[in-house]
Amino acid sequence: MQDQSHWDRVYGTNSSDTLSWFQPHADQSLGLIQRISSRERNRIIDVGGGTSTLVDDLLGLHGFDITVLDISESALEVARQRLSSNARRVRWLVGDITRLALPAHAYDIWHDRAVFHFMTTPEQRQA
Ligand SMILES: C[S@@+](CC[C@H](N)C(=O)[O-])C[C@H]1O[C@@H](n2cnc3c(N)ncnc32)[C@H](O)[C@@H]1O
Repeated sequence: MQDQSHWDRVYGTNSSDTLSWFQPHADQSLGLIQRISSRERNRIIDVGGGTSTLVDDLLGLHGFDITVLDISESALEVARQRLSSNARRVRWLVGDITRLALPAHAYDIWHDRAVFHFMTTPEQRQA
């Protein structure tokens, strides 16, 4: 698995919209999230969110309490800059999902896209 410095370099040296996994809107994810969300509060975490615009679109919907987690501080900084003052409405976590101890029962919806296929060893998958 690539480490934090790899991902910081990727996001620090490339514009997000030039990355192979870039999508202007995460429409498929948004559709699925809306299908499983409840009418009340939805605590969602986007694991390995990077610079994804999913967070922008979720902020435009009602009732989402949003956390974006990524191993790359650079990626999250790009997303925060893009969101400007709206970035304050999001919890940002920098960390390696295979090592981080997230609080139990803290999230209703877990989202990840193009992240877990980087975890190829039994230890990473177990974590
Ligand atoms: C291919 S990108 C996908 C980004 C985003 N999900 C999207 O759809 O645009 C993979 C992302 O996973 C993050 N990542 C890789 N390994 C990670 C780990 N162990 N813990 C947390 N994030 C990780 C990278 O920094 C990168 O932002």
